Amino acid sequence: MDCFEEQTMIKFYDGEDLPVELHKVRMVQKLHLRPIDRRLKAIEEAGYNTFLLGTQDIFLDMLTDSGTNAMSDNQVASMLQADDAYAGSQSFVRLIESVKEVFGKKHLLPVHQGRAAENVIAQTFVRPGMIVPMNYHFTTTKAHIDLNGGTVVELLHDDALIIKSDNPFKGNFDLNKLLATIEKYGADKIAFIRLEASTNLIGGQPFSLKNMRDVQAIAKKYGIMTVLDASLIGENAYWIKRREPEYLNVPVAQILLEMCDTCDLVYFSSRKVSSSRGGGICTNDIEIFNKMKELIPLYEGFFTYGGISVREIEAMAIGLRETTDLTVISQSPEFIRYTVEQLDNAGIPVVMPAGGLGCHVDAKSILSHVPQKEYPAGALAAAFYIISGIRGMERGTISSVRDENGNDVLADVELLRLAFPRRVFTLSQVKFLIDRMKWLYHNRELIGGLEFYEEPSVLRFFAGKLKPTSNWAEKLVEKFKSDFGNSL
Ligand code: F0G
Repeated sequence: MDCFEEQTMIKFYDGEDLPVELHKVRMVQKLHLRPIDRRLKAIEEAGYNTFLLGTQDIFLDMLTDSGTNAMSDNQVASMLQADDAYAGSQSFVRLIESVKEVFGKKHLLPVHQGRAAENVIAQTFVRPGMIVPMNYHFTTTKAHIDLNGGTVVELLHDDALIIKSDNPFKGNFDLNKLLATIEKYGADKIAFIRLEASTNLIGGQPFSLKNMRDVQAIAKKYGIMTVLDASLIGENAYWIKRREPEYLNVPVAQILLEMCDTCDLVYFSSRKVSSSRGGGICTNDIEIFNKMKELIPLYEGFFTYGGISVREIEAMAIGLRETTDLTVISQSPEFIRYTVEQLDNAGIPVVMPAGGLGCHVDAKSILSHVPQKEYPAGALAAAFYIISGIRGMERGTISSVRDENGNDVLADVELLRLAFPRRVFTLSQVKFLIDRMKWLYHNRELIGGLEFYEEPSVLRFFAGKLKPTSNWAEKLVEKFKSDFGNSL
């Protein structure tokens, strides 16, 4: 099917492809760029953990796109028509219509956010000793599967973890590994196969629709349920349109439907996919639906609100529909592509090709002098905040766990993630980011490692506190001041 869809990537006279915003700013929020001494103090108070910084000390908040995407005028307007009712709210009816239209699934269970969906799905389908094959884990997904006695098995191609690659679909399943896993454990030991769109922890990397179909065919053959984590489905659909030749002229709305059609169950965090709050689990299979249903009032709330305010339900219904608009879903990936290309041109190692969610800087190679057990990605995140006021997120060994002997399970990759919430930042802010990253790269030898002094046992990256293994942060600040003077 041919179509014309407006998009944010525009060819310039000088030959460059630049992202140009197809929206205008109608409401703004003031930002602050604090002096570097204050930023140093703030990160010390935060235990060198960017999660523990307060936004009063942050210039560009690139921690995540979760709950931070800009809302559209239509979303905000829709919140006024919210139907406040404990049961039978018409806001929920409008959400069901949206889910049917965008994901092609008619039964919907509302949940307060993505990990709540993971809780319900894991409690219902994962039993002790069961296996959950997936392209790659996400932190909260793995935690819920582990809690229910299951084991995650990751099935990416071996080259998916190569930082700079021209593989357009690093999120693809290795089908031979999938077949071998099913043969090894037996289909009855497999709780379900989980497909994560825009594979978060390896740099927002997409899978192709062909790969999804191949996984579906294998799952069908063995009678195994397929589950799609659609939290980042818009970005994955965008890269399918750009990189999978047969989809170049297929409307995004159809790509989304075809993606969801490959899976028996689809769940999502609306904090990411629809610029609102909440989440959902949807399916066309009433038996699957009924198995999960009773957990909703137990953990989330009644079936027609699921722990989400009805205003957010309205915004979610509109936000999901806007996922079918190419100008909406292309903005963040195209800003990421621009950033990644600029940093790569400057010789800075970043995950390539560009994916969804954010620009991922390779801390392992930039800080090759920092041992992995001193958390190079955490150190780079802290150092970048100190010298720029930009808050990113560690995605490396701090986000991992310890084994039964108390040793760190070293992460496959050590990344500093700089998230690009949709339609939030401008190109000049992005240029500032690129400039400061170049400066930090040239001064990378000054950065040292970190060690924990407070370490929670579960999901330690959220609340853990660390300190530098030497006085490297002070030295970095000194060098910054000698290069920039009083400039921020
Ligand atoms: N699945 C994926 C792929 C995610 O990226 C997230 C959240 C979740 C599930 C959980 O959803 O936060 O609504 O409970 N990712 C956020 C991030 C936290 O910053 O990457 P949630």
